[in-house]
Amino acid sequence: MQQADETLAGSHVVVVGGSSGMGLALAARAARAGARLTLMARDPEKLARAAREVGGAAVRTCDLRQEATVVAACEGLGGVDHLVVTAGEYRAAAFAETGPQDWRTMLEERLIGPMLLVKRLAPATSVVLVSGTVSRKILPGSTWGTIALSGVEAAVRALAIELAPVRVNGIVPGAVDTPLLARGRTETAREDLKAAIAARLPVRRVGVPEDIAQTGMFLMTNPFITGETILVDGGAVLV
Ligand SMILES: NC(=O)c1ccc[n+]([C@@H]2O[C@H](COP(=O)([O-])OP(=O)(O)OC[C@H]3O[C@@H](n4cnc5c(N)ncnc54)[C@H](OP(=O)(O)O)[C@@H]3O)[C@@H](O)[C@H]2O)c1
Repeated sequence: MQQADETLAGSHVVVVGGSSGMGLALAARAARAGARLTLMARDPEKLARAAREVGGAAVRTCDLRQEATVVAACEGLGGVDHLVVTAGEYRAAAFAETGPQDWRTMLEERLIGPMLLVKRLAPATSVVLVSGTVSRKILPGSTWGTIALSGVEAAVRALAIELAPVRVNGIVPGAVDTPLLARGRTETAREDLKAAIAARLPVRRVGVPEDIAQTGMFLMTNPFITGETILVDGGAVLV
């Protein structure tokens, strides 16, 4: 039988990006540990499905790129203990082919939206933000992703001081098998991509959402960790 995690039992956990992938896996784990959940994302149908999957959750729609929707989603939520933001889409694009509007969109999604959530929800215990390995390993077309995701990791360290004693931590996921990895690919292309990634990773497999969820639970419940960003990438940045 699953043992309730006493640390999360009865706490209110808001997972932005909780309708899919890593956020959904983390929400499911937090629910099993006795947390009360609010899930946020853009698509209300996906949110409703996710809420059923985790055994019940409040849901709010918002788009991190649209300030007014973030403000509205935070209204009247009540006391929040933990805020987790996994929401975001990584889009590689050659620097030469992008312009200020694309850059603003990236910054709104990865930094301004999440910072607004932190400010509006003012979680009492912890914040967990998610970046990505392009913060550490530059790839063709990653310039603005690298800028934005490095900013997320900088925000983790700065907010750990500014919001203390609230703890603020981050996760850097490597390639994880979620709907994001599959987007725009056929089943065969997805399997080929996973096989190619697995072959070059030291752990010889791609990540699964639970790998990230486990780390999120650790960061929410370990009372002595703050200002830390943990790489959960199967060794990707080493090779
Ligand atoms: N999967 C990977 O290999 C990988 C690798 C490195 C980093 N990451 C990062 O890890 C995070 C989680 O990714 P995932 O793989 O779990 O993706 P996913 O399965 O696509 O889930 C993303 C979640 O965020 C929501 N979302 C996306 N854009 C949003 C926006 N603008 N405003 C509000 N909600 C939004 C999505 O719902 P809606 O679409 O309905 O809004 C969904 O709930 C992302 O930030 C991603 O960049 C992923």
